[in-house]
Amino acid sequence: MSNNEKFRNKYGRWALVTGASDGIGKDFVCELARRGFNLVLVARRKSILEEIGSKLRKENSIEIQVIEADLSDSNDTKKVILNTKNLDIGLIVLAAGFGTSGEFISISIENELNMIDLNCRAVVELTHSFANKFKQNKKGGIVLFGSILGFQGVARTANYAATKAFVQSFAEGIRSELKPFNVNLVSVAPGPVNSGFAGRANMQMGSAQSPEGIANETLNALGKKTTVRPGFLSKLLGYSLSTLPRFGRSIILNKIMSEMTGKK
Ligand SMILES: NC(=O)c1ccc[n+]([C@@H]2O[C@H](COP(=O)([O-])OP(=O)(O)OC[C@H]3O[C@@H](n4cnc5c(N)ncnc54)[C@H](OP(=O)(O)O)[C@@H]3O)[C@@H](O)[C@H]2O)c1
Repeated sequence: MSNNEKFRNKYGRWALVTGASDGIGKDFVCELARRGFNLVLVARRKSILEEIGSKLRKENSIEIQVIEADLSDSNDTKKVILNTKNLDIGLIVLAAGFGTSGEFISISIENELNMIDLNCRAVVELTHSFANKFKQNKKGGIVLFGSILGFQGVARTANYAATKAFVQSFAEGIRSELKPFNVNLVSVAPGPVNSGFAGRANMQMGSAQSPEGIANETLNALGKKTTVRPGFLSKLLGYSLSTLPRFGRSIILNKIMSEMTGKK
């Protein structure tokens, strides 16, 4: 039996990926297609999802379903749960998320609350629903997204860093709860990655890694590690920062964030 077959047997034939239209989520879609999973792709830009889907259907003998959903809207999150209830989904990758930058009191509160809805509330709601299903099936896998920014407070992206601290803490806690039911969970804590993220967050990244390879490394760590720092840059930054006390990490990241947002 090939490694891909073993991996599919462990989690089931179907995987669901949110944030599938771009960046890291899209890398997961390509890697899971390569591993032979049927896929549910979720994001707001349906035409891009259809394009990715038809390319991957041709290249791999897999089924792909597309769901257009704004996951910052709880009704759309429920729609995703409802529309997938008859599929044998055994793996979920909740990559949809965005960041913001600037002094918290000067930026749009609506956008900040929308970010909490997407980065935190939708993650909790989808995880709750699928983890229950996985517990019943006695198998399943969950991939959540923290960030290098989620291990301390960071000025000029305070609320985004806090959403990622929330996900990291949530992931660590429920990972232990789910383990006895043969349900694996891993949190991904990337450093800077070249994707649609920086543009939407209005940040200029100096060095950043490609999203390519993040999925492979993460899926290989699922069931083995609590947190993955994917790629060389994430590891270098993550491990160097982790040698510092929390306030020291904040000082360094505050400075980096000032440079990334053009405030010297
Ligand atoms: N890039 C980085 O430097 C970095 C670093 C650390 C952690 N992360 C985390 O990694 C994850 C993936 O980020 P990325 O770099 O791949 O960003 P990205 O390239 O901007 O992709 C974000 C994805 O989320 C989807 N999305 C955004 N808003 C949505 C909404 N309201 N409802 C449904 N889908 C939505 C986008 O699709 P549509 O626009 O089509 O909806 C897109 O597919 C995020 O959770 C991010 O916080 C990224």
